[in-house]
Amino acid sequence: MENLSITEIQAAQLAQRYYGLNGQAKTLPGEVDFNFRIDTSSGERYTLKLSRPETAPDELDFQVAILQHLAEQEFPYDIPAMIKAQNGRYRLAITDGQGRKRWLRLQRWVGGRMLGHANPRGKGLLYQWGECCGQLAKALQGFDHPFAHRFYKWNPSETLASRPLREFITEPDRLAIADAFWQLFEKETLPKLGSLRKSVNYNDAHEMNLLVDHQLDRPRLSGVIDFGDALYTQTINELAIACAYAGMECPDPLQAVKQVVAGFHKVFPLQEEEVGVLYSLISARLLITVANAAKSKHAEPDNEYLLVSEQPAWGLLKKWINISPTLAHYTFRHACGWEVHPQLAAFENWAKRIDGSIAPIIHAGSDRFHPLDLSVGSLALGNNGNFQSIPAFDRCIQRMLEDAGAQVGIGGYGEVRPFYTTDAYQVEGNEGAQWRTVHLGVDFWAPAGTPVVSPLDGKVVSVQDNAGERDYGPTIILQHRVSETLSFYSLYGHLNKDCLQQWKTGDTIAKGQEIAQIGPPPENGNWPPHLHFQLMLDLLDTHGDFPGVAYPQEREVWQSICPDPYWLFPHLVNRSNPKLTIADILDDRRLRLGRSLSISYANPLHIVRGFGTYLYDISGRRYLDTVNNVAHVGHEQPEVVRAAQQQAAVLNTNTRYLHENLVRFADELLATLPDELCVVHFVNSGSEANELALRMARTYSGQKDMLAIEVGYHGNTNACIEVSSYKFDGKGGQGAPPHTHIIPLPDVYRGRHRESATAGKEYARYAQMAIANIQSEGRNIAGFIGESILSCGGQIVPPSGYFEEVYRHVRTAGGLCIADEVQVGFGRVGDAFWGFELHDVVPDIVTMGKPIGNGHPLGAVVTTRAVADAFANGMEYFNTFGGNPVSCAIGRAVLKVVSNEQHQDHARSVGGHLLQGLRDLQREFPLIGDVRGHGLFLGFELMRGGAEGTPAAAEARYLANRMRQRGILMSTDGSGYNVLKIKPPMTFSRSQADFFLENLSLVFREDFMQ
Ligand SMILES: Cc1ncc(COP(=O)(O)O)c(C=O)c1O
Repeated sequence: MENLSITEIQAAQLAQRYYGLNGQAKTLPGEVDFNFRIDTSSGERYTLKLSRPETAPDELDFQVAILQHLAEQEFPYDIPAMIKAQNGRYRLAITDGQGRKRWLRLQRWVGGRMLGHANPRGKGLLYQWGECCGQLAKALQGFDHPFAHRFYKWNPSETLASRPLREFITEPDRLAIADAFWQLFEKETLPKLGSLRKSVNYNDAHEMNLLVDHQLDRPRLSGVIDFGDALYTQTINELAIACAYAGMECPDPLQAVKQVVAGFHKVFPLQEEEVGVLYSLISARLLITVANAAKSKHAEPDNEYLLVSEQPAWGLLKKWINISPTLAHYTFRHACGWEVHPQLAAFENWAKRIDGSIAPIIHAGSDRFHPLDLSVGSLALGNNGNFQSIPAFDRCIQRMLEDAGAQVGIGGYGEVRPFYTTDAYQVEGNEGAQWRTVHLGVDFWAPAGTPVVSPLDGKVVSVQDNAGERDYGPTIILQHRVSETLSFYSLYGHLNKDCLQQWKTGDTIAKGQEIAQIGPPPENGNWPPHLHFQLMLDLLDTHGDFPGVAYPQEREVWQSICPDPYWLFPHLVNRSNPKLTIADILDDRRLRLGRSLSISYANPLHIVRGFGTYLYDISGRRYLDTVNNVAHVGHEQPEVVRAAQQQAAVLNTNTRYLHENLVRFADELLATLPDELCVVHFVNSGSEANELALRMARTYSGQKDMLAIEVGYHGNTNACIEVSSYKFDGKGGQGAPPHTHIIPLPDVYRGRHRESATAGKEYARYAQMAIANIQSEGRNIAGFIGESILSCGGQIVPPSGYFEEVYRHVRTAGGLCIADEVQVGFGRVGDAFWGFELHDVVPDIVTMGKPIGNGHPLGAVVTTRAVADAFANGMEYFNTFGGNPVSCAIGRAVLKVVSNEQHQDHARSVGGHLLQGLRDLQREFPLIGDVRGHGLFLGFELMRGGAEGTPAAAEARYLANRMRQRGILMSTDGSGYNVLKIKPPMTFSRSQADFFLENLSLVFREDFMQ
């Protein structure tokens, strides 16, 4: 092949000779021109461009003109400004070694990173992508140039010119897709192109031509390069091309493209006709890509690059063909802020006029209908256990109807429901897992066999058995033509099978005519008997079936296509008492609650349900909880919930009356502890437990001084704060009070004795020194308080021998040793039931909280007989709530579940698997400085530059935020806020651990984490 390029040395010489630039040249990739980056000795940077031999000067002048035009506009992105040569010309004719005429040009370098290299490419970037194209369209209005009026094969409007290349597409399934799109273009789009706005377009807004700045967490689109494809064509093509690239390689291209459309429309308002052809023009551009790739592949079958480069376009075409063009059109309308379905207003006007005068779909007196709340946070629906099996769900519905004395339950339009948020319904979206949770119809819950009546005259559009677990079962769709211009559809799902024989497509049905009966499970799709009734203004190219639930982010689109059926029976619904929105709750919190209460995440979560290892927000999104060790045996564990409900329904009093629960719980709890620890006092929180423990130590020893560990946290009461370095050494704190003595964090990763094999002893020596100091002032110590693994300190596992030595020093001085097990107890650490058992010590007092009540406020202090007796010095210890029958019932249920479900063993095995997975990630990502912990109490620490480098707090925060966006809740802690803590409910499974690790690995690859 002919070599048209020149060497870097030659390029540098050209830059010197014609532009007076002294510098180095470096070859850059280029499809048309031969490009070199010139770095001058004075630190400036340029692009030197050498044309191919036959390049027409017009083409180059056109590019100069367009760049100059943009430079004169308020175009808010960097562009490659043209630089004149020393002779005052923008293009210079030179003769190459073979005597051919070539053009030389120089442009100022545009800094930044390619959008295509930005990871992740979130909604914000997609929106900016659209904005940038909108700015191009806006700035190029009124610009023209003769060279722009040319045929160019990359023009989406010219996609049919690529159609003859279909012969090179050898795979039949690909060809079928391509043909379908060419046909769509030819039939539907081409005839409309003539009436659309035209302008000179940049025409090449793909991710390698757009630049983003160097902000890695919130990159800003900053520059546009390569104007070689600019062309006079339909303005909408500017957007179509960007969308064709933005939709590639993401799980849900329509949602990605929607962002681009919204960004474009904000800057350069689109017209309805343009939006109507966008779906097709996006595919039109993709067809040009794949058809030309097929041809090149044919010419160079061994060129692997060609194979790879066409994949994303085919990938998108395959997804695009499965998206209804109508749905895409409505989605784009929504992105533009227009009424999604153009007929919605007409429907609502008609519905208002008929004012409910339709035949009742289900016959019953209007006082026999009762609204059922089946929303994700519904208290009537209750625990997930109530709807996980069909019999349980059926019982739940029956109970609601019986309680209300009703015959028919009604409700559900727009309701976010928790039933569908399971693994089986999980779909990968652009922001992680997603579920269709928003219900689009109204359900009538009534016995199987209840007749279903058509509310209006209609025609049968389809009769189909959508058999399949939790599907519609037998389904009828009717069409109702209610005026010359308005027609809509109604869907009846979960019917009985008889209707499948009774009706066929095309049959007419009169208002009030029975069309079917409510079907029984399992033939109704295996649901408790009910009718799903839904209205649709459009069937979106479906037949016999239609989505009955939508993704929360698509709610408005679907609710416009599927209008509110309550319009037809307004007297049956009560729309008063709307729920508080997130903004309402935030406002009220600000107004009425103390500002020292913090809220997780800048974009707060509104959680309304929990179950097992998951929390569910108001939109029905499911979050994997890796943080909450309070919900020890799982959120809303049914046995624990039942124990609470049953006991609360019968009796709750204080401990001055006798109750079996108190002594049984005490027995069962003490059975988990060493024999010496044989007396328990029940309290209501971890803070209260430590408060009492401190009082006991002080009463027992007659001393006040306490030893505590650096960055330790023990609770929110006065006495607890006074031993919590995490608080008094942190924000708003005033340092240690005189009787508190802080000893260093026994950190073997970053602490002062990290290199030492005898770190345990060395760290313990600080306890000895502190005691000696206290004694030198004529006092002694009351005791020592410490967590067995330090949670707020950053999941620090003290070295072996540490506690043994500290306890020895404390006891020698007559003090007591308090193990704070509020975070780590109850089998969480896997190898032992209690954290202190990992260290082979027996404390004098053990304090418990969080997991003991699985979310119910409960705590306990367990101690030796001697300490308890010393504490009982005549002053009564009264606690209004501590040890009440409800709390004890809950505590007993938790212990029972921990034992029956072998949570300790589970924590050992899943925790081991997770620890191994984290260590594997650590090898891959040096940002992970340390991985540590036991069982399901783990942590990893992010450091820039290893143990002696700097704590990577911003990265830790970024990671936690990104994981939340992907549906996983994590928390950060440690003195440098750079430790990610993992302490999930003990129901955390191996597959959840794998899901978690996969997502971590994904986020660790993102720009900000590099
Ligand atoms: C180790 C430790 N001790 C005590 C407490 C205080 O418990 P509570 O918040 O239940 O009062 C906490 C709470 O975070 C804790 O982490």
